[in-house]
Amino acid sequence: MLQDRTVQPETDATIDRGEPIMRLDHLRRDFASRNGDITAVDNVSFDLYKGDILCLVGESGSGKTTVARMAAGLLKPTRGKVYFEGKDIYEMSKKEFGEYRRAVQIIHQDPYASLNPIHTVGDMLRAPLLKHKICRNRAEATKRASELLELVDCRPVENFIDKYPHQLSGGQRQRISIARAMTLNPRVIVADESVSMVDVSIRVSLLNTMLKLRNELGVTFLFITHDLSVVKYFAWEGNIGVMYVGKVVEYGRTPGVIGRSMHPYTRALAAAIPEADPDLTRSKEKLQLRSLDIPQLTELPDGCVFHPRCPYWVQGLCDVKMPPLVRVAEDREVACHVVQAIVERGGNPRDLEVTDQLANELMRK
Ligand SMILES: Nc1ncnc2c1ncn2[C@@H]1O[C@H](COP(=O)(O)OP(=O)(O)O)[C@@H](O)[C@H]1O
Ligand SMILES: [Mg+2]
Repeated sequence: MLQDRTVQPETDATIDRGEPIMRLDHLRRDFASRNGDITAVDNVSFDLYKGDILCLVGESGSGKTTVARMAAGLLKPTRGKVYFEGKDIYEMSKKEFGEYRRAVQIIHQDPYASLNPIHTVGDMLRAPLLKHKICRNRAEATKRASELLELVDCRPVENFIDKYPHQLSGGQRQRISIARAMTLNPRVIVADESVSMVDVSIRVSLLNTMLKLRNELGVTFLFITHDLSVVKYFAWEGNIGVMYVGKVVEYGRTPGVIGRSMHPYTRALAAAIPEADPDLTRSKEKLQLRSLDIPQLTELPDGCVFHPRCPYWVQGLCDVKMPPLVRVAEDREVACHVVQAIVERGGNPRDLEVTDQLANELMRK
């Protein structure tokens, strides 16, 4: 189980709030599926600043990987734009696009599938260094490969450099994937469920290695996970976007989104995070969802996509009109009619209670 880290700065001096390094602007991605067209990602916007950690959380199928692939330039959005250092990536020259692709590296969930089994660790790290002329010759590339192995905490280096992927553990393989992503000195790392397949016991040290890249080298992270307890550990100083069937339902700084969640879906997720202290677990809010079923993308409900599961839904509103994602506090955006109404009336959105009077007012809107 992951513990909270003790540092909880609300503002972080290491983040440069100039121009965003990456801007995802109203991204939408449709796919044709056997049962009809689906919208896997709908209206997703995020700004990432240098040194930022943006964490996308959501259940399987919520569109996280699709966002990751669009951010890394591997998949073209159906609508919307991806900007890197202020430039629309699909308006870039071939050379600029190549530089962007090198600057944004993706680390996948399954390191075994992404590492070539017939190459040694040394070969895998040397190849991009030589190909992209970061190193001039094999000796230089070997030296750099050793430095990268040190960087990702594969020590002693001699125990790794001549090994094949099958000779390494899952956690070690994932470190090699990270080292390989670092060969091209990326500005942004997109880590898609990159600790999900490793044992819980080594997850924390892998997360620490990635945090080191951010803290010491200023690497920006788009970190994707279905596991909110991982976010608590990794992205405490960053932001969370909570996704539900392709849409962002809540966004804000991590401590607030987890500790004082507003959207009923985030509250349900946060309530389900296991705590080391059983008393804490018992004292947590219990949120009874109306249903455990996630809707199919081919048959999305009308209105708010979450209303069939939401204990607070207002008939005549939530099943009719889709709530937009709007800023409800200085540092929070939420897509929920009820939260928005309570905030508008000066109430506390943590005390979600739909009185008859509120329901009547909302239905008349
Ligand atoms: N290439 C594709 N073709 C058709 N459907 C796809 C494709 N990629 C993803 N999808 C669908 O889009 C939805 C979101 O998928 P994904 O982004 O992988 O979600 P997540 O990473 O959150 O689990 C899923 O329903 C998935 O089946
Ligand atoms: Mg995925």
